[in-house]
Amino acid sequence: MTVEMDKIVSLCKRRGIIFQNSEIYGGIGNTWDYGPLGVELKRNVKDAWWRKVVCEREDMEGLDAAILMNPATWKASGHLESFTDSLVDCKKCKHRFKLDDVGGSRCPDCGGELTDARSFNLMFKTFVGPVEEDASVAYLRPETAQGIFVNFLNVQKMMRRKIPFGIAQIGKAFRNEITPGNFTFRTREFEQMEIEYFVKPGTDEECFQRWVEERFNWYLDLGIRKEHLRLRAHERNELAHYAKACVDIEYLFPMGWSELEGIANRGDFDLSQHSQHSGKDLNYFDETTNEKFIPYVIEPSAGADRATLAFLIDAYREEEVRGEKRVVLALQNRLTPLKAAVLPLLRNRPDIVEKARAIAADLRGEFRTVYDDTASIGRLYRRQDEVGTPYCITVDVQSMDDQQVTVRERDSMQQVRISMGGVKAYLKDCLAQGGLVALAG
Ligand code: GAP
Repeated sequence: MTVEMDKIVSLCKRRGIIFQNSEIYGGIGNTWDYGPLGVELKRNVKDAWWRKVVCEREDMEGLDAAILMNPATWKASGHLESFTDSLVDCKKCKHRFKLDDVGGSRCPDCGGELTDARSFNLMFKTFVGPVEEDASVAYLRPETAQGIFVNFLNVQKMMRRKIPFGIAQIGKAFRNEITPGNFTFRTREFEQMEIEYFVKPGTDEECFQRWVEERFNWYLDLGIRKEHLRLRAHERNELAHYAKACVDIEYLFPMGWSELEGIANRGDFDLSQHSQHSGKDLNYFDETTNEKFIPYVIEPSAGADRATLAFLIDAYREEEVRGEKRVVLALQNRLTPLKAAVLPLLRNRPDIVEKARAIAADLRGEFRTVYDDTASIGRLYRRQDEVGTPYCITVDVQSMDDQQVTVRERDSMQQVRISMGGVKAYLKDCLAQGGLVALAG
């Protein structure tokens, strides 16, 4: 079983990973801010994704499109008409539910009578310019995908790309969700990491399978336990309006198996729609076969917040060490917010403090390092364990004589003494290989 969500929420608050948004005003429903360590963790998740799907591949380009788009986009994409939930209200307690979530005709909370179902569009509306009139309505994008589709020709032509190739993008998306919740799992403002991969019709199914595998393995490679991941194919009746097929990568969250990422075969739906609505020919011309066609699209669509939450949950461990509880975030070194912490054993010894600060300053040039002298060494270790810092470097009295420091590894709690001058090179090796690398000689 995985850890309860409350423990994750509490750790995130306690250790500066995730805070409630506008907390001093009582917050705003299901909206969260990433704190100093959370921002590092989420950046590492996004960097790992970008590296894997853009930098390490020869068939991908990146993009950073704007959140606001010409509203015609949303008509063409079908979001104005179909991106809706059916809602019912309780006439007695006024609670609102998604029609899919209520079993019968009575309110699940108080048994009161429910209204007829109404359609509710999930897109956030806003106005561009000073006048709030119909002509100036715009929407906050509910998916980053459309910014890619409307740039398909630009990227393909300017980068002289031949099909198959893909475009990747990380960015904010907004949905006026009716039932947000489970911490950062479902929020109204979130970040997506999306790929639109353009292929020749007929090659789409094979490509779809390849992406499902590729994306599943990404989570495994970054340390998610295999027994906490599974694939689930969508039934016909749950497919989004644009999808021909869809497979979800599900993670065993504390509330049960839930979607982490969806891989969809969008067929030629989006490019055909944008071709029709914009009047621009979005056909691709294959010079080798002299064929002209609208490419099919395979879309692996992940959530940066959901992935970050899954990595946090999967890494959470509670252990007993010498009769005391130890909480550890056993994140992979590439994901940890901090790579090293430098801790002086005695904060009232200026020579020790000065040495420790100098080591921290030197390490900072290479990787995210903190200096901390605000508690006893035992508490400082626990603090770093809780945020997953893989290595702590301790400067003690003896260091002043032998010019050596102690390096302690998070998971095994093993320690080695190494020379001060060699700390940076040693940590670089350890971070690349994991654990404590054996010392030469
Ligand atoms: N372009 C396809 C698309 O947007 P989706 O399944 O609606 O598909 C893709 O969203 C991913 O975005 C989800 O698997 C999830 O990780 C993330 N996501 C969607 N809605 C979210 C929400 N309200 N809060 C947090 N993440 C969300």
